[in-house]
Amino acid sequence: MQGPVAIILAAGHGKRMKSEKAKVLHEVCGRPMIHYVVDAAREAGAQSIVVVVGAGADQVRAALADEPNVVFVTQERQLGTGDAVLSCRQLLKNYQGPAWVLVGDEPLIRPEPLADLLARRECEHVSCLLGTAVVPDPTGFGRILRDSAGRFLRIVEQRDCSPEEIAIREVNPSCYVFELPGLWDALERLDTSNAQGEYYLTDAPALLQAMGRKVIAIPVLEPDDILGVNTRRHLAQAHAIMQERIVERLLIDGVSVVDPRNTYIDGRSTIGRDTVIYPFSVISGTVSIGEGCRIGPFAHLRDGTVLGDGVEVGAFVETTRTRLDDRVHAHHLAYLGDASVGAGVNIGAGTITANYDGENKHRTEIGAHAFMGSGSIVIAPARIGARAVVGAGAVVLKNTSVEPGKTVVGVPARYVDGKK
Ligand code: UD1
Ligand code: MG
Repeated sequence: MQGPVAIILAAGHGKRMKSEKAKVLHEVCGRPMIHYVVDAAREAGAQSIVVVVGAGADQVRAALADEPNVVFVTQERQLGTGDAVLSCRQLLKNYQGPAWVLVGDEPLIRPEPLADLLARRECEHVSCLLGTAVVPDPTGFGRILRDSAGRFLRIVEQRDCSPEEIAIREVNPSCYVFELPGLWDALERLDTSNAQGEYYLTDAPALLQAMGRKVIAIPVLEPDDILGVNTRRHLAQAHAIMQERIVERLLIDGVSVVDPRNTYIDGRSTIGRDTVIYPFSVISGTVSIGEGCRIGPFAHLRDGTVLGDGVEVGAFVETTRTRLDDRVHAHHLAYLGDASVGAGVNIGAGTITANYDGENKHRTEIGAHAFMGSGSIVIAPARIGARAVVGAGAVVLKNTSVEPGKTVVGVPARYVDGKK
């Protein structure tokens, strides 16, 4: 296995979410949260990513099926975070080198502190680097205990804290770099003498230290990085912070988001300069928007939407798997699914591409500078030629091809010159 390795723990039940769905698959800004952790590990330099699955294992495997360099290990019973890491031992038995250990329920973790932590290893020769954070409210986290000289002593889980320890604000975000194979020796010595009767990974650093190995704890993480999602409230908080980050990046890149708090933009989308996004618009999945576009208010651009430059998509227009070339205008109330629309086309109010026949989806092609009248319906598969005109209320039947430059009207749509 090629290193550095990242081990991501994702086997827990997530009982506090009160859900049938595995916790790490709950979505933050339209994506299952585990994807963000996988991305951060990869961007920090992980060459191989091991995801420990257990509760909802099949769902988690399926969600990550397309991710390169991801392998799965099943933790048969959820006996604690220490046991979860130990279940990777067989897979990693021949691996020597550093491994991040991260948790799948911290979607806001950024790659920079992960890379920073790993870089410290090279100068310090340590068997465990513990990334920590100092937070205003440490509730729920394990606390970092240090001696009077500031050296790391151990991690204490909140439930096991004394009243003095509870007040400590330096916490364990579950962001470690361990040296393998040394870690296995410590994990073998874990026991379950704690409030939850579990094998705690959090005991491993102190055990390593007791075995004469070097452990250092460094506050490389910011409070936002480590928001752990254990409840739906946390999920909503993670969503809000992630959305702020996404919008911030767009604003820096020259995109106007008129009302960031009432706009929803998936982080996988790309948006060109001078595009303006009006409130109550939803951009979900992988969407590409060109320069100088005008989106919304109330537009819904879904996965696979590609917009050229100068495109205007207005109120209650929904697009999915659809390409709108430069200067297409779809100002009001339209559904464009599985469509390719050429440059300069006008999509009238209420235009619908009927792409789904109950079993399959079909494509609609609309040539450049065609004019789609208000309330027109195209039953896909169908093609509208360049500069053709589809009259208001016309219904273009499936397998029809309207010739370029011609006008069709009525139900079903016929050429106005009487030709069939
Ligand atoms: C854990 C840490 C705590 C830290 C916090 C940060 C331990 C004992 N405690 O607590 O110090 O402040 O994370 O978020 O490690 N998991 C498994 N298998 C298991 C149990 C858990 O894979 O048997 C996974 C979960 O899916 C989750 C992660 O490990 O992704 C952490 O488990 P969770 O129950 O959320 O631990 P916390 O109580 O948050
Ligand atoms: Mg947690």
